[in-house]
Amino acid sequence: MAVPFLTLSDGNTIPQLGFGVFKVEPELTQGVVEEALAAGYRHIDTATGYHNEEAVGKAIRASGIPRESLFVTTKLSNVDHKSGDIRGAYERSLAWLDIDYIDLYLIHWPMPAQEKYLGAWEKLIEFKSEGLTKSIGVSNFQVSQLQHIIEATGVAPVVDQVELHPLFQQKELLTYLDTKDVTVETWGPLGQGRWDLSAYPALTDAAIAHRKTPAQVILRWHIQTGHITIPKTTHRERMDENIDIFDFELNADEMKAIAALDTGKRLGGNPDDVNG
Ligand SMILES: NC(=O)c1ccc[n+]([C@@H]2O[C@H](COP(=O)([O-])OP(=O)(O)OC[C@H]3O[C@@H](n4cnc5c(N)ncnc54)[C@H](OP(=O)(O)O)[C@@H]3O)[C@@H](O)[C@H]2O)c1
Repeated sequence: MAVPFLTLSDGNTIPQLGFGVFKVEPELTQGVVEEALAAGYRHIDTATGYHNEEAVGKAIRASGIPRESLFVTTKLSNVDHKSGDIRGAYERSLAWLDIDYIDLYLIHWPMPAQEKYLGAWEKLIEFKSEGLTKSIGVSNFQVSQLQHIIEATGVAPVVDQVELHPLFQQKELLTYLDTKDVTVETWGPLGQGRWDLSAYPALTDAAIAHRKTPAQVILRWHIQTGHITIPKTTHRERMDENIDIFDFELNADEMKAIAALDTGKRLGGNPDDVNG
């Protein structure tokens, strides 16, 4: 079954399930992304900081899939953000990807101690109004940083890409994002391979009931909560597994049981403390 599209607050649409390439070695990335495209993914999530934009672009061209059928996200690196050369960073991403436009450009981290994220956001607003990028958003922004950019510019990001998975559900942030019509995009959706997906009855019981795997149950939970999600894998069989989640539905009790797994503990850094 096809991956559904969500409509963002600027009217653009995005495939709700994408494919992430964090920690995919640059020399492996072209092959991995070609396989993901062959498996049916049409939304690729990269970043300048992943050092694999060039290989993502090569995979896109090698696939022969029309550009307008693909959705490409990349992100302003912390290095470029710090340097203040936001336009140069955008142009370098375009050149590495070797595509005419980026569908979604994100500020990767707010780095609040640098006090530069508002200036970076103002640049992204320019890029959007110049038609350089279709949509603009942020990543790892907390409520206070979102409030700051929205109050200062009157422009809300279309997405906030944040760590979110069954063990870390960000309920307070989600409440705020909902009031501003910011779509949630979840990174580390499978817990980055850092916890045992088979260790939680809420996941394994639902997996048995629906003849799916715990990973598929988790990804289905992300979809049913209305979020965009971008799992990463370098294995073709897992690419197929992770996209095969549109032919079943978790019931209310199963959704509730997964909601109860929240520990409030992050796997990644607290965005308030990541400043370089
Ligand atoms: N904005 C940010 O700051 C930020 C931070 C982190 C990530 N991201 C984005 O979010 C994407 C996803 O997050 P992530 O890569 O950190 O973590 P993730 O997708 O939660 O987990 C990836 C890990 O799960 C394993 N895996 C994938 N499918 C599986 C399956 N069906 N069963 C069991 N294990 C499976 C992968 O192993 P194999 O590869 O060996 O299969 C890998 O070890 C990234 O690739 C990146 O695009 C953004």
